[in-house]
Amino acid sequence: MKRVQFTETVLRDANQSLMATRLPYSDYEAILPTMDKAGYYSVECWGGATFDSCLRYLNEDPWERLRNIRKNMPNTRLQMLLRGQNLLGYKHYHDDVVEKFVELSIKNGIDVIRIFDALNDFRNIKTALEATKKYATERTVASGCISYTQSPVHTVKKYVEMCKELKGMGFDTICLKDMAGTMSPAEADGLIKGIKDAVGEIPLILHTHCTTGMAYMTLYAAIEAGVDVIDTAVSCFSNGTSQAATETLYYALTQLGYETGLDEDIINKVNGFFKPVKQKYIDSGLISPKSMATDSQALVYKVPGGMLSNMIANLKDMNAMDKFDEALVEIPNVRRDLGYPPLVTPLSQMVGNQAVVNVLMGERYKQISNEIKNYFKGEYGIAPAPVSQELQDKIIGEGNKPADCRVEDSKRTGKEFSDARAALGDLCQSEEDMMSYICFPDQTVKFLKARRENAERHVKYSIVEE
Ligand code: CO
Repeated sequence: MKRVQFTETVLRDANQSLMATRLPYSDYEAILPTMDKAGYYSVECWGGATFDSCLRYLNEDPWERLRNIRKNMPNTRLQMLLRGQNLLGYKHYHDDVVEKFVELSIKNGIDVIRIFDALNDFRNIKTALEATKKYATERTVASGCISYTQSPVHTVKKYVEMCKELKGMGFDTICLKDMAGTMSPAEADGLIKGIKDAVGEIPLILHTHCTTGMAYMTLYAAIEAGVDVIDTAVSCFSNGTSQAATETLYYALTQLGYETGLDEDIINKVNGFFKPVKQKYIDSGLISPKSMATDSQALVYKVPGGMLSNMIANLKDMNAMDKFDEALVEIPNVRRDLGYPPLVTPLSQMVGNQAVVNVLMGERYKQISNEIKNYFKGEYGIAPAPVSQELQDKIIGEGNKPADCRVEDSKRTGKEFSDARAALGDLCQSEEDMMSYICFPDQTVKFLKARRENAERHVKYSIVEE
């Protein structure tokens, strides 16, 4: 029997894509025991922007959220997204911090750790992989993730090489992450077949978004080509900038003779539960019509939707919308000069902003942003293809070479831990608190102070009652 499994994303990526990750735990706690019986390959519920959002906007302890999900879904693989050496942000952390974060994630309930690097510089995912293996339980899965992008150097052959490298590193599964939703069915077919031929025995996962309207066709092509797991979102939290719909694909694939492992009744109950939740956030304005729409511009301009809207906003700010077409033409040129980095945050903004500056100044690279300078110094990792020699000479000086080591090469100073404990004092009640502070210091202090005040209030009331 043909088989394909589903990862449900409503708690993480759908939540992040459609409503800026503002879904509080209390909104979905009641459905978790039901979701636990759906038969998903995994439920993506943590990591990405959920951690920051818990502390910054929702006054929630992200670790407590994870423990609660674990308690309510004992039978389902819980999955998180981790940005390699950057953990959940954009800064490079020391190896001991990365290792501790992974240890605590597994300890608090994570089973599947999907690890990626924006530039596909796999040196930046090695420490997280090793930590995953070190603290693994019998349920733990280390998933090596490739940021998918299109460029003259991103051929099937190149992706096959990346997959071989991930497999050689010891990952249990491989995920292709098409964050812009621009992978076409034809590309999926060629890619999945190529990868399956080369590294067939390792499970292959496809993550894409509906942003451009390609997702259903692309997923279908990928499944026919042999992909093992797809990422989908419960239908009321699907489409637009989110994933394709779980139930829709369940029905389509079941008719085609695929075994999905999903329970039809349960996945429909899950949708029934989330419908009013979604309506609440449409009514409040948190879910905008824009995030629910299909936008094919990314296919026309070959840049992700978010990058385009960012660029338009910048040009409007500077009263320079008449330069829009010129800036669009300049984007692929800047990208080529940078060795074709995947257009994901922060690279997408860096490339977009530099293209705008190049056009507005009337001279290319008359002004160069600090981020681009740091990129050429090697601080973001290795570029997928050779960068412009001329530009490199201009930035780091002729004859000089960019750093060829990882930014934070295996420093284990323990300094972040002691700094965090010193800064938090008795606000710090656990290693998890300490780790929250290392990742998001200001938000964590605010959260921990509120938590203490709350606890003190409870103590006062209980004394009065006595
Ligand atoms: Co995504």
